[in-house]
Amino acid sequence: MKKRIFSGVQPSGDLTLGNYLGALRNWAKLQDDYDPIYSIVDLHAITVKQDPELLHHRTLQNLAMYIASGVDPAKNTFFIQSHVKEHAELSWILTCQTYMGELSRMTQYKDKSQRHGDSIPAGLFTYPVLMAADILLYQADLVPVGDDQSQHVELTRDLAVRFNNAYGQTFTLPKTYTSPFGARIYDLQTPTKLMSKSSESTAGVIFLLDEPDVIRRKISRSVTDSIGLIQYSDDQPGVKNLLNIIALIQDKTIEEVVQRLEGNGYKALKDEATEAVLSVLQPLQHRIYQLLDDPAELSAIYTAGAERAREIAAVTLDDVKRKIGFVL
Ligand code: TRP
Repeated sequence: MKKRIFSGVQPSGDLTLGNYLGALRNWAKLQDDYDPIYSIVDLHAITVKQDPELLHHRTLQNLAMYIASGVDPAKNTFFIQSHVKEHAELSWILTCQTYMGELSRMTQYKDKSQRHGDSIPAGLFTYPVLMAADILLYQADLVPVGDDQSQHVELTRDLAVRFNNAYGQTFTLPKTYTSPFGARIYDLQTPTKLMSKSSESTAGVIFLLDEPDVIRRKISRSVTDSIGLIQYSDDQPGVKNLLNIIALIQDKTIEEVVQRLEGNGYKALKDEATEAVLSVLQPLQHRIYQLLDDPAELSAIYTAGAERAREIAAVTLDDVKRKIGFVL
């Protein structure tokens, strides 16, 4: 039996080169050894205010981006969270088993709620329970997420243990999965900060759908240093980041890249990085637009995905309902 991977991705904000090199590109490497299920989590997205048209567009666009990065829909299940009603149902049942104190301790809630003054949406508070429901419905073994989500995976385990202890073995205990290929790409303007789709300034962020000219400009203006040497050093976070980008894309070691570029100025480094980025993003963009122009192909993928997801989720939910005494 292959281990099951579950991950959810928010359809909020456009995906970046950081998402691509750090996550998307690696998903294709998991598809033969695991049973991966990925959900575009629109129910999560609405915990903060969304523009309906944008939400709709981004949900489809994100799906197209995942598929374009080489993740094979025949080997992975892709679905849109709201298509599988079991998520909302299990989430409610688990909410009744979750303590206010546990949720108050979630650092992401503490951060995000501060931006809402006196009108904090309750969904922002209960969001980790929905995430737990996502994972537990599929009996997932592994959950690939960034550091900011590991506390939520811990909570998921706690809830699973609590339920299993009260009602008998029901849920698999999931673990955070850290990819051996994981790469961290930093902001081109602030190379000590991760490249993030939610950054205030986009000057240092390369989006997957940026036009070639925009990519050229962003890389040519990326922040370096006054040391002037191409070497891989913590004192030169900007240079280090560009070297990482080149090495990852060209599938070369850092040493190989440094050796080739050593002795050149930073312009040569930036030109090389630009070439590398364009060489992956141009074909990727082509495929993304192809998919977006063919709504029938996309919808066939997410419809089949939701069907498979529902089959698995329904078995878990029925088991839960029976155990807590609901009449089925
Ligand atoms: N909360 C995650 C994030 O913001 C998204 C998410 C929702 C998720 N459900 C999930 C991730 C289940 C992993 C598993 O990034």
